[in-house]
Amino acid sequence: MPTPPGNTSPQWEACDRNVEALAFSRNASQNSCLRHHEDPGDILNPMSEYTILFLGDVVGRPGRNAVKENLTALKLKHNPLFTIINGENSAGGVGITSAIAEEFLANGADAITLGNHAFNKREIEGYLDSGKPIVRPHNMSPGVPGKGLIQIQKQGIQLAVMNLCGRVMMDPMYGDPFSTFDALTENLQTPHRFLDFHCEATSEKIAMGYHCAGRATAVVGTHTHVTTADETILSGGTAYITDVGMCGPINSVLGMDRDVILRRFRHGLPEKFEVANEPGVISGVKICVEKDTGRAKSIERFRV
Ligand SMILES: [Fe+2]
Ligand SMILES: [Fe+2]
Repeated sequence: MPTPPGNTSPQWEACDRNVEALAFSRNASQNSCLRHHEDPGDILNPMSEYTILFLGDVVGRPGRNAVKENLTALKLKHNPLFTIINGENSAGGVGITSAIAEEFLANGADAITLGNHAFNKREIEGYLDSGKPIVRPHNMSPGVPGKGLIQIQKQGIQLAVMNLCGRVMMDPMYGDPFSTFDALTENLQTPHRFLDFHCEATSEKIAMGYHCAGRATAVVGTHTHVTTADETILSGGTAYITDVGMCGPINSVLGMDRDVILRRFRHGLPEKFEVANEPGVISGVKICVEKDTGRAKSIERFRV
């Protein structure tokens, strides 16, 4: 667990709501789809390219409020064809409810991904089998509600949205995510394939990126709630980032109240985690994709 940010951290002071403090991109090649956030609007060729917007783990009410207040503007700015949100921490910091999932969809999400906290609110089980655009990690035992692959379609583009959990420093119940990806994609017709790989270890995520290179449009990491600066386009046109980061409260420890976590670290006594009562920031990535091939042309991270 990283050192929590202090009150006077310039990095975090810079992350005021509605101020984009980070805007970096890694590109396969220079092209019209690649624009810095300071540029007015996005230039992409709608005839040949489309955009995926992905928001990292939404943590509690601060994260939900940040999504509610900023997603419309983000979509106006980036004009994504598909918007995907990881909602595994959206209900009180762990899990998601059907009402919150519906709220994400109403706010403009086209699909919701989850993670190791998918089932912390058991009420979601029925919703996962209701045909809604939501995925939980696929590499779970047979019979578990929901699935880890759905396909959503817009403007003739069929996007497969997948969710897998890693195994390093994760619950041992998860099956092999690498062979699960192979099985999921073996007979998949569409080349447009988005994988949210929910995972603790950077090494396992990077390995998954290489495993999927040329076989997925994007492999984006979630779970650590800390954005990494390694976004890139892998060979074969696979957009990759080790972790997108969270949509959650600033001045917190991974979204949780910093004082509670500090006491826990210092004293080692059990304490109930509480979502920090702080304004929320949004961490996400924007991925530009070729319509014909499903190959990613660029990936750009942002924080709002
Ligand atoms: Fe997680
Ligand atoms: Fe998370």
